[in-house]
This record gives sequence, structure tokens and C-alpha cells, in this order.
Amino acid sequence: MGGKYRVGVIVGDGVGPEIIDAALGLLDLVDAEFELTQIEAGLSRYRREGVPITEEDIDLMRSLDATLKGPLMTLPGRQGYRSVNVLIRKELGLYANVRPFRSYPRVSLLSLDIVIIRENTEGLYSGIEWRAPDSAYSVRMITEVGSRRVIRFALDYALSRRRRRVTVVHKANILKESDGLFREIFLEEIARYEGIEHDEVFVDAAAYLMVKNPSRFDVIVTPNLYGDILSDLAAGLAGSIGLFGSAQIGDHTAVFEPVHGTAPDIAGRGIANPSSAMKALSLMLEYLGVRKGDEGLIYASKAIDEALHRVISEGRVLTPDLGGSASTAEFARAVKCVASELLGSVT
Ligand code: NAI
Repeated sequence: MGGKYRVGVIVGDGVGPEIIDAALGLLDLVDAEFELTQIEAGLSRYRREGVPITEEDIDLMRSLDATLKGPLMTLPGRQGYRSVNVLIRKELGLYANVRPFRSYPRVSLLSLDIVIIRENTEGLYSGIEWRAPDSAYSVRMITEVGSRRVIRFALDYALSRRRRRVTVVHKANILKESDGLFREIFLEEIARYEGIEHDEVFVDAAAYLMVKNPSRFDVIVTPNLYGDILSDLAAGLAGSIGLFGSAQIGDHTAVFEPVHGTAPDIAGRGIANPSSAMKALSLMLEYLGVRKGDEGLIYASKAIDEALHRVISEGRVLTPDLGGSASTAEFARAVKCVASELLGSVT
């Protein structure tokens, strides 16, 4: 038997419970013990208790090996509560948001294999905003410490995975101070690394080039909002936002979630693509495997990726976002069946 892991689960709002449930079903196949702790966060808790998540729950998450999280609804405008996603990232110091996008045969519009590493705690999501009588202000805080840690993370990530190039995406020609600092730190840090190609692209050009010539990108490191927007673009080009997961990593713990939001337009209908949550789970197993030296978890992560790849490429069981008619449960069963063959276990 493999190791023992303490994992938090936030099922989230909207399609969250449907897809997180599908992902957790894969844990039966993994040779390790998972002590799962359900944590309630989001709108329903806010309406009942006046807070979307408690300090005790944040402390609990800090003490866990990792948390698997569904999407959480955030209301627009002044009356809505502040984003619980942003709160979790800041409180747990989850500074690197890692989002791998790799195309699947048949379903992707373009062939791409890009990892977007987004600074996750500062920038325009710093939450420093105020209203004056007839105007409104948001402070785009970019710090040296915050930039350096995510840039180092991105460079180490590229080196350890033998990725060929890291591109820093910014708009330092206009935002000379904030993006200027991020860029300066990138150039300072890259000088310390050998064996990684690097370049820089303005964010508007990056959006264009991702469509016109996606293979020019390999690993991207970028401030918060740019990474958020470019991620949805990459997900759309690679076939569906329902396909991809993200790892939010800090020095002490990490939170894994789908790239997308709560998908209110399809919630409760049993048709959401659970690949995003399954990919998030796979990223979590890889993270735990590397951190704890557990080869079995790394193998299980690869098997889940391969099972997703086979089912999606085969094209027989696909959810509606990919042009199919399978339900969330049918798709999840197909992936679990292939993963169990690969892992040599019986479901
Ligand atoms: P969204 O990502 O929820 O939906 C955008 C489009 O993608 C919709 O057409 C939706 O049906 C589709 N989609 C998303 N996930 C899918 C899946 N698994 N399978 C098939 N189709 C899928 O973006 P939206 O509508 O802007 O946001 C809804 C709510 O989610 C908002 O309250 C927002 O604040 C929140 N949100 C939460 C995030 C998180 O918790 N990390 C991230 C992004 C948004």
C-alpha cells in the first residue's frame, strides 16, 4: 500500500459537485490511502453564515497535503461578497497558478502544448479598490517578492520538465512601473539559469500569436489578469474549457481545481465535462507524488492523463461541449474503465 494523504474537498457551486464527484471516483484506483475532509465554501455558506468560508477552514486547508476544489460563484458588482477564490489564494500563499493546455486529436481547433504560469496573488486581483463620488480606482500591485517567487517557480518548472522556452508576457511598454518591475525581475532571474531559451511578448500580441502560431509558445509566465484571460483563450483553442485543470501552488500546500467557473447555464443537467476536475485530480496526484517521493502517485497521474487522452481521442463517448451526447457520468465511467486497465486494478 502507498502512502497516506490528507486531502480537503470543496465541491463548489454550479457544476462543481457533479464533476468533483466524477473525479473522486478515480481515487478508488490509486494505491494510497486518502483521508478526505469536506470543506464547505461559497454562496450557500455565505447566505447562511455571512461568510463564504471560515478562518478555521482556511487554517485546516493550510495543514492539509492538498485540496481538490470545484468552482465557486462570485457575484459581480458592489453588493456581492469578495471572491472566495482570491481569498483562498492569498491566505494560503498559493502564488503559482499552473495551467497546462495540450490539444487532443479530433476535438481541438489548433495544435498546442502550452503551460501558462500565472501569478496568483497580486496584480489587479489585489483587491485594493475604492470609489470616489464619480470615479472608481483599482490598484494593480506588483511586488518584487511576489514576482520573483512565481518567476523562479516557472523557470524551475521549465527546467525540471525539459521544456524548451519560457516567455514572459506583459505590457511594460504602457504599464512601465508595474509590468516594468515584473519584466525586470524576469530578466534578472533568467540570467541565473542555463539551458532555457527565453523571450518576451506583449499581452495583446500574445493573444493574437496564440491563435496564429501557438507552437511558438511553450511555458508562459505572466501577471495575474493576463494569465486568467489567456488561459480561457488557450482552453477554447484546445477544444473546451471543460478539459483543463489548474494547480495553485504555494510553499506549504496546494489547491487543485478546474480552469473554468460554475457554468450556471448547464449546472444540474448532468452534462458538464468532468475532464477538468479529473485533470485537476491528476495534477494533485503528481504534486503529492513528487513532493512525497511516491512513484505510485506519479504513475497514477500519468494513467489518468492517458485514459482521458484515449477516451477523448477515440471520440465515442464525449460530452456535449465536445460535440457528443454522453452524460457526465457516462464519460466518467469510460475514463475510469480505461484508467483501471492501465493501473491494473478492478473497479
Ligand atoms: P464559466 O467558466 O463558468 O462558463 C463559461 C462557459 O463554459 C459556459 O458556456 C459554460 O457552460 C462552459 N463550461 C464551463 N465549464 C464547463 C464544463 N465542465 N463542461 C462543459 N462546459 C463548460 O464562466 P462564467 O459563466 O463567466 O462564470 C460563472 C461563475 O463562475 C461566476 O460566478 C464566476 O465568478 C465563477 N468562476 C469561478 C472560478 C473558480 O472558482 N476558480 C473561475 C472562473 C469563474
